[in-house]
Amino acid sequence: MTEFEGKTVLITGGGSGMGLATARRLVADGANVVLAGRDKDRLEAAAKDLDAGDRVLTVAADVSSTEDLDRLMAEIEQRFGRLHGVFANAGIALFGMSAQATEADFDHITGINFKGVYFTIQKALPLLGEGSSVVINGSWLAHRGLAFTSIYAATKAAVINLTRTLAPDLGSRGIRVNAVSPGYVVTDMFTAISSTEEAQEQCRSQVALGRLGSADDVADAAAFLLSSRSSYITGQELAVDGGLTTSVAL
Ligand SMILES: NC(=O)c1ccc[n+]([C@@H]2O[C@H](COP(=O)([O-])OP(=O)(O)OC[C@H]3O[C@@H](n4cnc5c(N)ncnc54)[C@H](OP(=O)(O)O)[C@@H]3O)[C@@H](O)[C@H]2O)c1
Repeated sequence: MTEFEGKTVLITGGGSGMGLATARRLVADGANVVLAGRDKDRLEAAAKDLDAGDRVLTVAADVSSTEDLDRLMAEIEQRFGRLHGVFANAGIALFGMSAQATEADFDHITGINFKGVYFTIQKALPLLGEGSSVVINGSWLAHRGLAFTSIYAATKAAVINLTRTLAPDLGSRGIRVNAVSPGYVVTDMFTAISSTEEAQEQCRSQVALGRLGSADDVADAAAFLLSSRSSYITGQELAVDGGLTTSVAL
């Protein structure tokens, strides 16, 4: 029997990047996966790519909308009955200096990266039973100050703190809550921000392991935290950053 056989995992932002890589990893280990995101075409392409038939459910939903989250959970309940894991991974990176940030920017970024994570987990609770696992996607930027990331980095600090408070909050229900914190990981988000070879080399040169991360690097860590192999681990943040946050490049 494979590790995730008969288990169902919701992955927000499952249509691309780390979400899709995690879905691929879980499907290979026997899981049913639910991919949620705003772009229906992207989700359908992802499901085609996974090629796992009715073990994949796609639901177009915006995590910043609690109405969408209610509909998402209703569709999951109807199709699979319950959930065994949630990867609260959806996020956006909109960067700019604090002097230029607008209230709309603030509401947009926090609405997806913080409120979205909070209510994804809360709305999933009726479907999550004893032994379930929640993994939040944080970021190395919660730990180091980089100009032009003030709102984004604060949302990531918020969700890492949420990992710590939800661990005892949901521990009484037998639900574990952990976070992965990626470093520089080559996905659409990363290449949109670091689009030139020079910019990517600048990132790479700060990493102890001397290479940028891949979505699969994060998928392996997320899959571990979602699996029963991590059954006595909760409230933890696992950096998947090649040593970026804990070392100094000279
Ligand atoms: N790449 C990095 O270097 C890096 C580093 C640290 C942390 N992270 C974090 O890793 C996570 C995954 O990002 P990625 O790098 O894999 O980039 P990505 O490919 O851009 O993935 C982000 C996903 O989130 C979804 N999403 C965005 N807003 C959403 C919303 N309102 N509702 C539902 N889904 C939404 C997107 O789909 P739609 O656009 O279709 O909605 C997309 O599939 C993010 O939380 C990001 O902050 C990334």
